[in-house]
Order: sequence, then structure tokens, then C-alpha cells
Amino acid sequence: MNSTSNWTLTNVPDLTGKTIIVTGGNSGLGFHAVEAFASKNAQVIMASRNAQKAEQAKLQLLQLIPHAKIDVMKLDLTDLKSVKSFTVEFKQKYSQLHVLLNNAGIMMVPYSKTKDGLEMQLGTNHLGHFALTAQLMDIIKATPKSRIVNVSSMAHKAGVMDFSNLQYENGGYSPFKSYARSKLANLLFTYQLDSYLKVNNIDCIAVAAHPGVSDTHLFDHIAPKWVQSLLRPLMQLFIQPADMGALPEIRAAVDPQAQGADYYGPDGFNEMKGYPIKVQSNQLSHHKETSFELWKASEALTGVSY
Ligand SMILES: NC(=O)c1ccc[n+]([C@@H]2O[C@H](COP(=O)([O-])OP(=O)(O)OC[C@H]3O[C@@H](n4cnc5c(N)ncnc54)[C@H](OP(=O)(O)O)[C@@H]3O)[C@@H](O)[C@H]2O)c1
Repeated sequence: MNSTSNWTLTNVPDLTGKTIIVTGGNSGLGFHAVEAFASKNAQVIMASRNAQKAEQAKLQLLQLIPHAKIDVMKLDLTDLKSVKSFTVEFKQKYSQLHVLLNNAGIMMVPYSKTKDGLEMQLGTNHLGHFALTAQLMDIIKATPKSRIVNVSSMAHKAGVMDFSNLQYENGGYSPFKSYARSKLANLLFTYQLDSYLKVNNIDCIAVAAHPGVSDTHLFDHIAPKWVQSLLRPLMQLFIQPADMGALPEIRAAVDPQAQGADYYGPDGFNEMKGYPIKVQSNQLSHHKETSFELWKASEALTGVSY
């Protein structure tokens, strides 16, 4: 730890020889995570749905870190064929995967469906990552001391799982309820995954993180730019810069002290901002039957099994 004992980028160890995937690595928290890992010599795969945006982000990072090893690869979590192609291509190029950082996400979008007919927020935030992780499990097994990190949110506390209406197929959709459900799913998945890894003696841990409230592109579609700039002075009181918001997921990915099923978030008031520490998720996120039922439902919906 540094002199103030706050966990910062100075605590990130040397990552020479490590291969790390960051989903949604071209923007927001993911961008800063790629920056942190690349600056410590990791081979980083920026897994992005938009190649043009990702190449621009890579150029920006290369200006900051000329020695950065960043490989842009196409991944669209709303398309299970794209998830499959990504994993096939990744395994052709790389023989180990030390960290899979499942960071990409969308928030509070109007009701719509993925290419595979899954509800968009659950499909992107949870089911796409569930399928991605399963299809990388063989390479994860082949990598000693590997790690899977899922990015949740304080919104998980408002999440409710209803397996008879998991994708709001019977109505009742609200952008916030669906987002909260998807972020609860991230935690239920993390804890069930960590048990799966332990039961199967796989030398890997599953860890979760949340960024508090961070200034990224996640909110762009919620209010027009001019409203956002009017609200900005007020928002600064509650919101932290994206590089600070990325610290919990970076810590979850690389802190040698992290253990399976740990959850990292900011240490400030209501976990909204601050330096990353271990935090607690709610009781429902630890409910074993619910996480098992979600696992089974996710296997059925994605057609992918562990
Ligand atoms: N910011 C916050 O306050 C906050 C709070 C709680 C949790 N989170 C979580 O933090 C994570 C990162 O979000 P952020 O705040 O950094 O937002 P962001 O700046 O909007 O970044 C989200 C990233 O996810 C990517 N993405 C979205 N849909 C995708 C898809 N179908 N396939 C592949 N990539 C996709 C985006 O790609 P494009 O660039 O192409 O859009 C972007 O790279 C999310 O899981 C979010 O739920 C954020």
C-alpha cells in the first residue's frame, strides 16, 4: 500500500507475461482499466463492438503509453455468434488468459431485444458475459492463478429475480428494474461461478466490483448533452471521474490479496466515490438457490454450458 494506505494505481503489480481481456475496453471504466494494465506491461485485449471506436481508443492509449500491447478484437455481447467467434479467434491467438474483466454494459435503455431475442439489458450485461466466460473456460483452466471479474452496481440492491418473467416477456418492463436485475445477476453469477471453480478444483477465482457513480458514457442517452452540462456542477458532488471509478475493477483484477467472491467498491459515503475497498453486496445476491436457478436459466437461454 502507499503512504496514505489508499489503494491506487501505484499498487498495480508488474503484469509482464499476463494476458487480460477487457470487454467494453474502448470507453469509460474499461478504457482506464486497459490503460492501467497496459502501463504495467500486460498484453491487453480490448474487446469492443465498434472497431472504429476501439482503434481510436487504442491510438489514444499508445500516445500515453508507447510500449502498450493492445489488441483490438471484435465482440458484440448482443450477438451470441459474435461471442463464439471472439472466443475462437482469441484461442487461436493466445494460449493463456490470466484475467477476464467482464466490464461492458448498458444502462436503462428502452425495451428491446438482442440478435438472439434476449431482453437487451440482461442479454448484454449478464447473458453475453455468461456465454463468453463459459466459452473461455478451457483456456482459463489452462492458466494458473487466473481470475474472472464481473462489474456490478449499487443498483443491484433494487434488483429482483422473477424466473417466471425473467426477460419481462409477460410485461412489467421498466428500464431501471431491468438494469437492476441485470446487475444483481452479475453478482449471483460471480458467487455461483466462484463455487463452480472451487468444486472443480480450477485454479481461478471469480471476483466482483462496482464503480460507485462515475463519469462515463453510460448516462449519455438518458439526458441531452445541454441538460447534462447544466447539471454537471451539481453532479460533481456525487460523481467521480472515470479513472477513479475504474479502480475497484482494476483492484479486483490484480490485487494479489483478492479472494474468490470478494466484492470491491469505493470507500466514500454510500460507496458513491472514493478509493477501492472490499464492500458487501446485499443478502439476495448471496442466495444460493437463486444463483443456481439463474445459472440454469442462463445455460438454457444462451445454449452454452459449463
Ligand atoms: N458509470 C457508472 O457510474 C457505473 C455505475 C455502476 C456500474 N457501472 C458499470 O460499469 C460498466 C462499464 O460502464 P461505463 O460506466 O464505463 O460506461 P461506458 O462508458 O458507456 O462504457 C461501456 C462499454 O460497454 C460497451 N458495450 C455496450 N454494449 C456492448 C455490447 N453489446 N458488446 C460489447 N460491448 C458493449 C460500450 O461500447 P460502445 O463504446 O460501443 O458503446 C463501452 O465500451 C458497466 O457494466 C456498467 O453497468 C457503471
